[in-house]
Amino acid sequence: MNHRGFLRFSLPAMMGVLILGTLFTACGGGSTASGGGSGSCSSPPPLAKKAHYRIGFSQEVNNAPWRIAETTSIEEEASKNGDTVIYTDAQNSDSKQVSDIQSIIAQHPDVILIAPLTEDGEVSAIKQAAAACIPVILVDRDANHSKVTPGKDYITFIGSDFIKQGQRVADWMINATKGTAKIIELQGTTGSSPAINRTKGFNDEIASHSGMQIIAAQDANFDRATALKVMQTLLQSHPNVTAVYAENDEMALGAMDALKAAGKQPGKDVIVASIDGENAALQAIMAGQEGVSVQSNPRMGPDAFQVINDYASGKTIPNWVVSVCQWSGFLGCQFPCYNTRQIYCRVL
Ligand code: AHR
Repeated sequence: MNHRGFLRFSLPAMMGVLILGTLFTACGGGSTASGGGSGSCSSPPPLAKKAHYRIGFSQEVNNAPWRIAETTSIEEEASKNGDTVIYTDAQNSDSKQVSDIQSIIAQHPDVILIAPLTEDGEVSAIKQAAAACIPVILVDRDANHSKVTPGKDYITFIGSDFIKQGQRVADWMINATKGTAKIIELQGTTGSSPAINRTKGFNDEIASHSGMQIIAAQDANFDRATALKVMQTLLQSHPNVTAVYAENDEMALGAMDALKAAGKQPGKDVIVASIDGENAALQAIMAGQEGVSVQSNPRMGPDAFQVINDYASGKTIPNWVVSVCQWSGFLGCQFPCYNTRQIYCRVL
């Protein structure tokens, strides 16, 4: 993991913030499925061992620090290996992402990495790649397992445990509010795996606490400007809000702007919690405006290229390579470590 961004922070400033690493399980080996494949190849299609690969990478959008970090990580890793990347940016559109993937398929790369916008939106394109005997790896977001299967229609999903991330925000919020809060939930893009699972993780975790009440929940598309508008509207009908759960940092930043514009102080009148670990969120935490950001590692490049090499070497690949933050702990803070100002492993 790259800690350059983290090291740019001055030590005295950091002393005010407890930093804690995420501790999900590390990835391991798995199996190359074979037999019964689409067309004339196995499922998933085989990948020949080569010194250098031509790799397709379909990104769903590249408009904010987390996603830019993901794209950069894949490009950097490819360049280290001398691999070529055919890159597309779907600009938040399922239909554009399907045609992007079709255009990548037409260029016959060795393998395609896809960061799908939604769980259902790119299923047809994943199947088309398999039918063209091109192996696919999903990075950061997964697809609907009732329509496509890891280990068969695609090699694997490399990404975080989004349910756990939602649970961690909930645990922090229950503790910070002593179990009583009127919560506005700003959800990520409807139908995307992080939105589905971060909502599930959070909602299930607070369900047994009767004082934790979600007074409004709305899609703000993982986007700061959208969250600002959504929050401005919600504040008119829910001025009694005491906490905001934003499913990524960008939406938390938009929500905090809306709170300030409405004359409410984030961190005092309304506590704010989110997921990612962006620089701007850390600054908001250090300013006492945001309570917590649960880290979500965007740096998929090393795992993606490890999987490519392992798969080409015939090694077993698990259906889910869990993306982890490899740096854990600061100032002796160990998980669980609850405080009002906290970030779980800075990544951007
Ligand atoms: O899929 C991961 C999420 O997508 C990140 O949390 C978010 O910032 C991005 O848009």
